This record gives sequence, structure tokens and C-alpha cells, in this order.
Amino acid sequence: MPDIDIHFDVQYDYPVVFTKDVFNTENPVLVDIFKKTGQKNRILVVIDSNVAASTPDLISRIGVFFRQYDDIMDMVAPAYIMTGGEVCKNTPHEVEKIQILINKNHLCRHCFIMVIGGGAVLDAAGYAVATAHRGLRLLRLPTTTLAQNDAGVGVKNAINKFGKKNWLGTFAPAFAVVNDLLFLKTLNTRDLRAGISEAVKVALIKDRFFFDYLYDRREALRDFEPESMQEMIIRCARLHVDHIRNSGDPFERGSSRPLDFGHWAAHKIEDLADDDIRHGEAVAVGIALDAHYAHYCGCITEIELYRILSLMECIGFKLFHPALLQINIEASIREFQEHMGGTLAIPMICGIGKLTEAAIIDTGLIIRGIKNLEDRYNSKKTHEKKKRIQSDASHKGRGDVFS
Ligand SMILES: NC(=O)c1ccc[n+]([C@@H]2O[C@H](COP(=O)([O-])OP(=O)(O)OC[C@H]3O[C@@H](n4cnc5c(N)ncnc54)[C@H](O)[C@@H]3O)[C@@H](O)[C@H]2O)c1
Ligand SMILES: [Zn+2]
Repeated sequence: MPDIDIHFDVQYDYPVVFTKDVFNTENPVLVDIFKKTGQKNRILVVIDSNVAASTPDLISRIGVFFRQYDDIMDMVAPAYIMTGGEVCKNTPHEVEKIQILINKNHLCRHCFIMVIGGGAVLDAAGYAVATAHRGLRLLRLPTTTLAQNDAGVGVKNAINKFGKKNWLGTFAPAFAVVNDLLFLKTLNTRDLRAGISEAVKVALIKDRFFFDYLYDRREALRDFEPESMQEMIIRCARLHVDHIRNSGDPFERGSSRPLDFGHWAAHKIEDLADDDIRHGEAVAVGIALDAHYAHYCGCITEIELYRILSLMECIGFKLFHPALLQINIEASIREFQEHMGGTLAIPMICGIGKLTEAAIIDTGLIIRGIKNLEDRYNSKKTHEKKKRIQSDASHKGRGDVFS
């Protein structure tokens, strides 16, 4: 009996558009996207609960926008408000609610789900959309720094299962991604900052000049100065997308996952910290740890290590988390490898902007890195406390003089 060898290629094209005020009826971005189908589009809108709460007129503005272009877009049901944050990935309920709406409204593969939210909502809603009818058209509108510069522009979606991050998920490129920078206006400082760590990550593995840019602008980024934030997001998103386009492995079938530099520890910290930490914050700690490792292995100099740590500290990241002390290093590395399979390939850096991979990990050096991060954090805390006491005392003294 002859064997049948099967080979076919599937091409994906999707734009990542940067804009401001996407639901302004004068803004052509969404109209141009929907016109591409050459038909009237049926659309279900899903909104992150915290985005909806912090922008009270968003739903009415979306309504006005849809009515203005009712020749090409039809909103099939009131917008569904999805619980924002990691909680939506921790249970299957939110995914199921979207699937119920897809079924109830008789949406097919030609219909759109437009998801507006942070990385967690995009991941969970994206998973629902990719699995209903084996995939509807997904339009992503990321609303956090991290979602705009990383999570929202890629091809992955997932929810958490068995206490493990992203255990259930698919690779499913979106129809389009629209990064509206005005969404960031309502973010708190924690979520504005968190995503900057992904820019540091991608600069470290791919682009020395981008790292220098981040270092030079570290104070502007600390202050969330709009122009620097915008450039950081655009360059970071571009580096992520370029990797997906050019790496030859957009669906991560091999053993390498370079974009996950610093992530083996980050994912474990997130699990152990019971979501009391943002993904981006955990990534900053993971980068700091792996940068120590790279230094101990002779891959980066002490000055380079110092620049990496001081860049992230200046931006406002804490580079130690108590969960680091609970990590079972070997098990965590095994879990990281198991997620993808193949040989062990922990992304590492060999100089700033240059990626390498570690096929074995020396646990002793990791422990040394954790200890150093803890000591550095404690001495910083002591130093800050001393400064506070001194400043209180000097104020008290001045008060005495004036009284
Ligand atoms: N799919 C991927 O390739 C990929 C890549 C990186 C990270 N991720 C995932 O992304 C998630 C983290 O994403 P995140 O950092 O965006 O966090 P997040 O989605 O948890 O959002 C943080 C908080 O901000 C709220 N929020 C979102 N936008 C807001 C806005 N404009 N105004 C006010 N509040 C707003 C959210 O409701 C949430 O409470 C993690 O689950 C991570 O695993 C996925
Ligand atoms: Zn990440």
C-alpha cells in the first residue's frame, strides 16, 4: 500500500495598527479592517471589566461608531463584559460564557469577536474564539502596556489549568490587532509599568540599540512620559512581531522559545504568588535572575549586569520576590521544558542584544543569583528606611526652629 505524504502551506497576514481614539467616528482604522471582507460583518464585542469601568462612555461610543457604519458592521448583541485580570484565565467559566454567546447569536467562522482588554482577557477570549467552530475571526484591541507591546500582537492564546500557566491554549493569529494608545490613560501605575519589562527582555535578546534607548530614557519611562512610552511600545511590539514573522517557527514547534527569556522563573513566581504579582513584574524578577546567571557564566560583564538591574530598578521594578525562595528550581525548569517538549533550551543572553541557549542549568548558580537579589533588595530597603528617618529628622528639626 503506498504511503501518502502530505504537505501544504498556510499563509497568515494580519496588520498590527497603531492609532489613537479608535472609536472616534472620523478614525478610519476599524472601517478599513472590516471593509477587507467585502461583506457586512457580524460582530460580538467583548470588553475587559476594568476597561469598561474606567471608561464609562466606552460602550456608548462603540454604539455610536457601529451605528455610523451600519452598512459594514452589525453588533449582534450588547457588549459582553468579561472579568478582567488573571482570574479570567484561572477558571473555564469566562471562556464558556463567550462560547455560549457565539452559539446563541449563531456566529460562524466569518463573524468577528472584537476583544478589548488586557493580556489576560485577550488570552482567555482568544482561546474561546479559536475553539468555537474551530476558529472565528478575532480582532484584538489591547489595553495595557504589556498587551500592546507583547501579548496582544502575537499568535498565542491560553488559559491556566492544573495550577500551571497557559496549559490550555492554541496558536491562532488574529484577523487584526489595533493598538489604541489612548487606552493606557486609565491604567494604574502598576500596569503601566509592568509591560516595560517585556521591552527590556526583547531588547536584551535581540537589539542592543533598543536596550541603550531604554537605558537612556529610564527616567522618562519611570515617569511614563508619553512619547517615550509610545516609542517603547512600538519598538517592542515590532521586535516581537518580527520574531514571529522571521524566526521560521511562529507556532513554536521546535525547542527554542527565545521570547521567553526570564520566563521560566517568572511563570513559577506567578504560580506561587497566587496572582498577587503582575506577569510583567514577575518577568522583571526573572530577567534579573537570568542576567545574574549569564554573568556568573561569563556571558555578560559586571557592568552589563549592573546596567540591566539599574535600568529596571530605576523604572520602579522590585527585583526580588519572596516566592523566589520557594521555587523548586529543577522542577520549574522541567516544567518549562515540558510545556514545549524537545531538548532543554533555556533562553539566555551572551552580551546585550545577543541570544544564546542553555542546555543545562547549574542550580547552584541560580541559588547564588537568588541570594544576591535578596541581599540587594534588603540593603536597598535598609538604605531607603535610613533616608526616610534622616529626612523625617531634618524636617522635625526645621519645625523646631520655626516654632
Ligand atoms: N498570548 C501571549 O503571547 C502572551 C504574552 C505575554 C503575556 N501573556 C499573558 O498576558 C497576561 C498579562 O497581561 P496584562 O499585563 O495586560 O495584565 P492583565 O490583563 O491582568 O491586566 C492588568 C489589570 O488591568 C486591567 N486593565 C486592562 N486594561 C485597562 C485599562 N486600559 N484601564 C484600566 N484597567 C485596565 C485589567 O482588568 C487587570 O485588572 C498574563 O496572563 C500573561 O500570561 C500572554
Ligand atoms: Zn511575558
